[in-house]
Amino acid sequence: MSISLSTVFYLGATILFVLCLGGLSNPETSRRGNLYGMVGMAVAVLATVFGPHVTAGGLPYIVAAMVVGAAIGLYAARVVKMTQMPELVALMHSLVGLAAMLVGYANFIDPAVSAKLTPAERAIHEIEMYLGVLIGAVTFSGSVIAFGKLSGRISGKPMLLPGRHWINLAGLVLVVWFGYRFVAAHGVAEGMVPMIVMTVVALLFGVHMVMAIGGADMPVVVSMLNSYSGWAAAATGFMLSNDLLIVVGALVGSSGAILSYIMCAAMNRNFISVIAGGFGTDSGAPAAAGGGAGEPAGEVVPISAAETAELLREAKSVIVVPGYGMAVAQAQHTVYEITKVLRERGVAVRFGIHPVAGRMPGHMNVLLAEAKVPYDIVFEMDELNADFPDTDVAIVIGANDIVNPAAQEDPGSPIAGMPVLEVWKAKTSIVMKRSMASGYAGVDNPLFYKDNNRMLFGDAKKMLDEVLAALRS
Ligand code: TAP
Repeated sequence: MSISLSTVFYLGATILFVLCLGGLSNPETSRRGNLYGMVGMAVAVLATVFGPHVTAGGLPYIVAAMVVGAAIGLYAARVVKMTQMPELVALMHSLVGLAAMLVGYANFIDPAVSAKLTPAERAIHEIEMYLGVLIGAVTFSGSVIAFGKLSGRISGKPMLLPGRHWINLAGLVLVVWFGYRFVAAHGVAEGMVPMIVMTVVALLFGVHMVMAIGGADMPVVVSMLNSYSGWAAAATGFMLSNDLLIVVGALVGSSGAILSYIMCAAMNRNFISVIAGGFGTDSGAPAAAGGGAGEPAGEVVPISAAETAELLREAKSVIVVPGYGMAVAQAQHTVYEITKVLRERGVAVRFGIHPVAGRMPGHMNVLLAEAKVPYDIVFEMDELNADFPDTDVAIVIGANDIVNPAAQEDPGSPIAGMPVLEVWKAKTSIVMKRSMASGYAGVDNPLFYKDNNRMLFGDAKKMLDEVLAALRS
């Protein structure tokens, strides 16, 4: 394939990726957006494989690598559960970071690359390689730790080292200094030491940055690492002189940065504070489960499925608040069946979606869309938070942190300041979960002990099936 033809395909793929991002901004158009993305990726891969930079001798290696990669991808797509998606995404981000690192090193040790360049071009290329490896290393190690935290292999509690901000600053100074040494070096042997030192510092920084983040702030980290993986891809594009990779990397990088900003705004967090680590834990104390002075006390009032059905039947207005537990229990279809029954009886049912409900952006919207819940009864938190006092029943399905009043009432709480759905202001709130366990942030929830709250203990799907049966009887 000629250079101009591959450029045309690259342009087509770029347009498809922009349409993909546009489509993903709304649940109604997200399927189409995904389709654009898949077609764009297929065009991009084919145009690269059959493009001018791949020689006939290299083709079998590329095809073999693609077959192995596709087999692993297909297997992962088949076996991964919806609730494991965030950790899978984190793992994939780590691979983008690793690829950027490897491409950087390969470029650096390949004498053919720098032989073609003028001294000025060589200096620019060296900076590209240095930055590519730097971003790649932070993305790689940060994403591996994020994977560990999201999958529960590493504790979600923040690891706050004494003088952690100074440690980060020292890392930055080292990276800048060794960057200078790298560009000033003559030849691979001399440049290798600064490159390796920087890689180690960057890997440690990635680990430190994500280890210091508390459970409730993980959404910001996930979207931030998404952004980093985009910039790592863009850096790889610069190193390989691949325009498509630069453009796509920049698209992912900037959309991830915008998403991180939106997440921070939604959670009332300062972006810099979150990435500097340990927001809301300035005392240096980890976000322990069981809140000491702020620890909720009192009795919880259990309720049965039949009593829940009775309350719902008598209600005029109901707000459903789904959370991570609904995803675990795969209860969304039963939720919709109950919604239909209630609506047929004239009960006004709406859904309240917290921006960080579940484990990935838009998690609840995806599940509700899958269950065919009409979009016009699904509302963002800000759109209906003021309506709880006029609501008869707020039913919380497997959610915890996003309905925790401690965010408003306890300034010492690790989630203090995070906006939450104010379900306790409804006439009755019902929380459906299996036990008294805390949520992702590891914080006790005073909602459970409020006078107007009832606890429906059990697996969300099982309990909702019972509620549905009682409603139909
Ligand atoms: P969580 O606070 O994690 O609470 C989920 C609750 O669901 C748990 O307390 C659990 O209690 C219950 N549960 C689990 N399985 C269940 C089942 N089969 N049936 C019934 N209940 C079940 O979830 P949330 O309220 O959705 O808040 C999300 C949290 O995740 C926030 O802290 C957020 O910061 C964090 N996070 C979000 C994201 C994104 S982007 N959304 C990414 C990473 C982290 P039991 O064990 O007692 O049943």
